[in-house]
Amino acid sequence: MDKKEAMSAKMTRREFLAGAGGFAAGAAVGAVLGGGALSLVSPAQAAEAVPNGPWPYVKLDPEVVRKKGYESYWQGGCMYGAGKAIIEALREKAGSPYNLFPADMLRYGAGGVAGWGTLCGALNGACAAINLVTPNADVAKLTGELLGWYTNQPFPGKAHDAYAKFKDQKQSVARSPLCHASVSNWCAASGFKEGSTERKDRCAKLTGDVAAKAVELLNAYFDGKFVEQFKPSEGTAACMGCHVGPKSALENTLTKMDCTPCHGDPHKK
Ligand code: HEC
Ligand code: HEC
Repeated sequence: MDKKEAMSAKMTRREFLAGAGGFAAGAAVGAVLGGGALSLVSPAQAAEAVPNGPWPYVKLDPEVVRKKGYESYWQGGCMYGAGKAIIEALREKAGSPYNLFPADMLRYGAGGVAGWGTLCGALNGACAAINLVTPNADVAKLTGELLGWYTNQPFPGKAHDAYAKFKDQKQSVARSPLCHASVSNWCAASGFKEGSTERKDRCAKLTGDVAAKAVELLNAYFDGKFVEQFKPSEGTAACMGCHVGPKSALENTLTKMDCTPCHGDPHKK
């Protein structure tokens, strides 16, 4: 860098600091960006710059988020797609602090984490966004409702057909929040391979659908109108009656998933 470049870099930086609204905020942003101000920023200041949750929610249009989810899937997978759709929509409406959220940290959830097929990444990403804006005491109500809804919902929805790669795809119901069950059931229903563009398009639509549902739940919640609707199926509730929760006789496992796809009924002789 010659002198002139160094000067203009300095100028730009000073203008940037002024624009960022003061020295402390500017210094913290400098650290975030890897600028030269690292030594000036204490961890406490950095913590101030990125506020703890819940971040202020503004009501969103689920249809805007649905489309964003579909599009973002192709950039970073299902978890990234769903989380980014909601957070980007919030940034467009509310600005700060949503501009500080690093959506890249959501990429790990694709394929239920590293192809393990555990929690569906679209759920994982949408739950991260719910967590970001909801008071801690109520996060599980909303995320639990989202997972429950997902287990019984036919995917993919048709709302993407105007812009998706494939229209009117076969639908399937996962009966589980697991990527493994969700993808496997769809491959069985449609006849397409897991690695096909058809399957990816299905998951892109599902990503948008899950993000849109999360926004519907959040909108209702912040209107004071959220009501938990999901209940485990009768059969599962019966198993849970003996196996899950403080009121059960055994209290020796933990899940709300349908037991029988994995266990059958082990008590039937
Ligand atoms: C009336 C209470 C009760 C209900 C209802 C019940 N269980 Fe059990 N379950 C038990 C008891 C008691 C054991 C321990 C039995 C043993 O060790 O022989 C057990 C054991 C098990 C085991 C351990 C492995 C095995 O094969 O013994 C599994 C798995 C299991 N139950 C799953 C289920 C599922 C799935 C359902 C619902 C379809 C269910 N249970 C419903 C009481 C119940
Ligand atoms: C996604 C599949 C899956 C679902 C859904 C599931 N389980 Fe399991 N469960 C497992 C696996 C895997 C194990 C570990 C089995 C092993 O290591 O042998 C297990 C273990 C258990 C055990 C201990 C088994 C033992 O040998 O003592 C119980 C009890 C049990 N599950 C009950 C339930 C109940 C009740 C439900 C529903 C409320 C449920 N599970 C839902 C997969 C599942």
